[in-house]
Amino acid sequence: MYTYPALLQLINQKITETSFGSNPKELYEPITYMMGLGGKRLRPVLTLMAADMFAADVNKALDAALAIEVFHNFTLVHDDIMDNAPLRRGKETVFQKWNMPVAILSGDLMLIRSIDLLAKTETNQFSKLLSVFNDTAAKVCEGQQIDMNFETLSKVTHDEYIHMISLKTAVLLGASLEIGARIAGASEVDAMHMYEFGKCIGIAFQIQDDILDSFGQTAAVGKRIGGDIASNKKTLLLIELLDSVHKDDLKLLQNLLAEPNDELKIEGVLALYDKYQIKAFAESQKQQYLDTAFHHLNEVSVSPERKQLLINTAHELMERVS
Ligand code: IPE
Ligand code: IPE
Ligand code: MG
Ligand code: MG
Ligand code: MG
Repeated sequence: MYTYPALLQLINQKITETSFGSNPKELYEPITYMMGLGGKRLRPVLTLMAADMFAADVNKALDAALAIEVFHNFTLVHDDIMDNAPLRRGKETVFQKWNMPVAILSGDLMLIRSIDLLAKTETNQFSKLLSVFNDTAAKVCEGQQIDMNFETLSKVTHDEYIHMISLKTAVLLGASLEIGARIAGASEVDAMHMYEFGKCIGIAFQIQDDILDSFGQTAAVGKRIGGDIASNKKTLLLIELLDSVHKDDLKLLQNLLAEPNDELKIEGVLALYDKYQIKAFAESQKQQYLDTAFHHLNEVSVSPERKQLLINTAHELMERVS
């Protein structure tokens, strides 16, 4: 069996060998830049881990794995425009480094190329893979729109938040595993459990992303800390704070949410997160989704030894700092 670093190496090698094009350079340079910034490469690694778990040659899943990573990078290029984010993976975001039209268009091309890559997969189930991929992509767009709609709402429920992050983040982790499993010839039932396993891990993954956005270190996370607070994102942290804040702190919180000075706003909201122990609450939520994820993995009909790498990876993701 492989390890995460060994699979990461395969993905990085594949990215190095792949040319996205060169002319006009304004279109292609941002793509090479973004794909070269690294990141965890989690989704393609999951695709390869799933293929390996069902005893397939991981090379059979490499084009599909890269397709998913290119798609993910496309969503990040556009997400940074939507979130007005200056930093990504410790470097300037594409729209900051170039400009907004360039980021839109190079992102569009990444989406198109991701489907080309998926189509290179040697499989007799391409139409199924394409429908999983496209259904997932549509859900990510739905989730992104709902995430933005929430910015201007004063009240968002816990269930509405879970629904939103399932769409914007979790389904792609689910699809990464399902696609790897299907390429390896997994049964319908096993493919479904792999999807659900990935989706639950994905929910916990986004909760951790929310935690890191407020409590992480820029040097590790590679993003601006406090960006979610600045843009009134209805993260699990803010939703829980709005639910638990006492009457005497409510006015303070409302004023902070309307505070135009980002530094004061971030500092003030972080102090309330500490006062109401919001981080501990988010940590416990993460754990619940991890438990449900393992329930699905348990149901998959391969030996426990073959599941070990995914189990370890899921545990590591819960503690991640980047
Ligand atoms: C960031 O994804 C976007 C989310 C869905 C939270 P990652 O945290 O996987 O980003 P990279 O690819 O490692 O940079
Ligand atoms: C991003 O969620 C989800 C997608 C890119 C689809 P976030 O906006 O929280 O991701 P980061 O924190 O910028 O990576
Ligand atoms: Mg976003
Ligand atoms: Mg963002
Ligand atoms: Mg985030």
